[in-house]
Amino acid sequence: MICPICGMAYIKESNSDRKVHTKYHDTFENGYKSKRYKREQIIWEEGQHRISLINNRSNYNEIERASKVAIMGYDDSEFMSRPFDNNELFNPERTVIVFLLHEEDRIFGTLVIEKAKLVFKMSWEEYDLVKPTREIKDGRFYWSGRFIWVHKKYRGKGFGKLLIIKALEYMKLQPDQFAYSSPFTDSGVALARKISPMVLKTD
Ligand SMILES: CC(C)(COP(=O)(O)OP(=O)(O)OC[C@H]1O[C@@H](n2cnc3c(N)ncnc32)[C@H](O)[C@@H]1OP(=O)(O)O)[C@@H](O)C(=O)NCCC(=O)NCCS
Ligand SMILES: [Zn+2]
Repeated sequence: MICPICGMAYIKESNSDRKVHTKYHDTFENGYKSKRYKREQIIWEEGQHRISLINNRSNYNEIERASKVAIMGYDDSEFMSRPFDNNELFNPERTVIVFLLHEEDRIFGTLVIEKAKLVFKMSWEEYDLVKPTREIKDGRFYWSGRFIWVHKKYRGKGFGKLLIIKALEYMKLQPDQFAYSSPFTDSGVALARKISPMVLKTD
């Protein structure tokens, strides 16, 4: 049968299939279930919520977990490319950092940022007119948002914004020093516009 809620196809009579479906269905409805790891690198915590950081110094389990959450987010959005490849997280150059948003033993959001080289700086009005006018050529790299996702159940409550604001605080970046990698989804643009007056667009 096909579950009318999560869309998974499974054989009702098979015990193992039912088990797999129960787990998938729970993740679909409530977010990714995972206990707090002892060595999580926490960048922000308040009440039952916390944000952890995963980079090339994180252990394999944390990288695997971040990867599963990112795939979940990818499957759940109209985004065109996978948020990251695990190898990028093992890169000694540290070109990708992943942030995970937790509510006790649930992970319900992720932000993936990357080091970007070619950046076009423009106002949102210029962006609307598709005019990449002021190319930044200062030889620096910019941190850029590659992918952000918040589980459906938690949307519209300020968690997407919180994830970006806390990541920027941790990275010691002002909102206008942060780029957003295109392409965007509609909700992605709506959120980015609320964070920064400028677009730092990378391709
Ligand atoms: C984009 C996304 C992460 C936003 O998460 P969220 O937790 O719902 O966002 P927030 O509640 O923090 O919203 C922050 C602001 O953006 C605005 N916003 C967010 N999504 C919006 C939408 N779809 N339409 C209009 N405005 C939106 C909110 O109104 C809010 O404005 P405010 O600060 O003035 O109140 C979420 O919608 C999502 O996961 N979408 C699917 C994946 C995706 O498309 N990712 C973007 C890839 S570029
Ligand atoms: Zn289901």
